[in-house]
Parts: sequence; structure tokens; C-alpha cells
Amino acid sequence: MTISQVLKWAQKELTEACERPLFEAELLLAYHLQKERLYLHLHCDEVIEDTEGYKRLVERRAKHEPYEYIAGSASFYDIELEVEPGVLIPRPETEILIDKVAQIIEEERMRLIGEIGVGSGAISVVLARKFPQLHIIATDICDTPLKVAGRNIRKFGLEDRIELRKSNLIDEVPEALELVVSNPPYIAEDFILESNVVDYEPKEALFGGKAGDELLRQIITDVSRRGIRYLVCEMGYDQKAPIETFVKDFEIEFIEFYQDLAGFDRGFVIKFKG
Ligand SMILES: C[S@@+](CC[C@H](N)C(=O)[O-])C[C@H]1O[C@@H](n2cnc3c(N)ncnc32)[C@H](O)[C@@H]1O
Repeated sequence: MTISQVLKWAQKELTEACERPLFEAELLLAYHLQKERLYLHLHCDEVIEDTEGYKRLVERRAKHEPYEYIAGSASFYDIELEVEPGVLIPRPETEILIDKVAQIIEEERMRLIGEIGVGSGAISVVLARKFPQLHIIATDICDTPLKVAGRNIRKFGLEDRIELRKSNLIDEVPEALELVVSNPPYIAEDFILESNVVDYEPKEALFGGKAGDELLRQIITDVSRRGIRYLVCEMGYDQKAPIETFVKDFEIEFIEFYQDLAGFDRGFVIKFKG
């Protein structure tokens, strides 16, 4: 089969699973051939040798498996990160969380921060690349994220500046941190998610408890108790009011909420009283 014939077939196969079936068919073929997408347009009459191999990839995507797990990598901020099943695929909204943290690190000239729930390493790797003086201690409770984050940290030569620790929240991080950043699991147990998320991505990265914000509350409590000055977290679109009420019991200078690009409440910055 030629490139244009196989793409036509794949587009049909992906119609139910994907919003942009032709685009995804092209992405998968470009990945399969290890070429740029443009190559497909310039060589549409070229015959493909391993059509069966490509079809197997398309069948996986047609069953809703995320493209990033099939290709083993995800674009995030200004980098490509390795990902695999067992690790959350980093989301574009988390780039806003990074910008919020970056602003504080710059203003306060911070040197040591912590991340809770490192996943692929997306947040820590981007921050360490932005701030050459910064050291980060990043935790996760699961082994696969720690393994994958380790690979991404090595890929960018950041082993001396990002330390990984297996820990519940910051239980195993006694150091005096200046700030904690986290994109924790924050989805409510009974929330209905799309098949490509719930059937493939790790539950430990998605669900935060019955209401969803249980882990966020525990993070606020722990960071406050430890006397850490700043906490910056991503949260669910419906968690602003409960978090606002919850922080009334803490000594804080301020809490600021921010929205994502779709206009949904998506996170907060807390500055605790010194
Ligand atoms: C939503 S993912 C975020 C991953 C990555 N930071 C990102 O933004 O793409 C949440 C991560 O928190 C980890 N996690 C869940 N419960 C935890 C806990 N109690 N302590 C530490 N990490 C936890 C999960 O394993 C998962 O890797």
C-alpha cells in the first residue's frame, strides 16, 4: 500500500476514537516511519514496507490508547519527555502551574524547592532547566513514575539538581524547603472520565479521594505544619470554594487562584505567614 492509501484506511479506523482522525493517522505513520509529517505529504505515492506494523499501531489507537503511550514520548513546555503506562501524560494546563512557580522562584531567588507527585518529571525538569541555581527534591509514592522521571532527569543531565525520593507527600523530605509545587491527583472517585484516560492512565495519578480534594487538603496541612513559605498546586475546576473555606483555618498571607486557558479554575498559590 502507498502512504496515501494507508492513511485513508487509518483515517476510517480512527473516526470513532479520535476527534482528528487524519491528523492522528499521520502522526502514527510519521512515528512508524521515523519521519516528519511533512514527509508523508511529499511522498504520498511511496509504497510502505511494513504496513502490518503500522496497522497494529492504528488498532491500538482505535482502542483509545493515548498516542503518547504508543510513541513513548510526550511534548510538554519546550521539551519531549519519555512516558509509558503507569505515568501520567503531562497536560498543557500544567504549563501554567510552572509559570506561576517560576515567577515566585525568580522574585524570591529560591535555591531549594520540593515537588510532590513527580510523575514523568515534567514540572521538575522544566523548572530545573529554567533556573540553573535551583535544586529540587521530588517525591512520588509509585515506582514507575520514579523510574521514568529518573530517565527524563538523566536525558537532560539534571541528576545533580533533581533528587528523587519515594515518599508519601513530603514525609521523607526533612530539608528546609522554600516552596512546594504539586499537581496531585485531584479527581473525585465517581467522576466519569473518557476511555483514553480511565482505561490507560494510572489511577494513583488521577483520583484524589471520594471528593477529590483530600490529598490537596493534606498537602496544605503538611506544608503549613512544616513552616514552608509557599505552596503552588493544580486543582479541579470545582475545587475553588472548598479550598477557600479550608484555608481559613491556616495562618496565611494570601491565597490566589488562577484559571486555565479554557477559563476554568485550575490552581492556587498560597503564601503562609512566616
Ligand atoms: C497528576 S500526577 C502528576 C504528575 C506530574 N507531576 C505532572 O504534572 O505531569 C500525580 C502524581 O502523584 C503521585 N502520587 C499520588 N499520591 C501520592 C502521594 N500520597 N505522595 C506522593 N506522590 C503521590 C502519583 O503517583 C502521580 O505520579
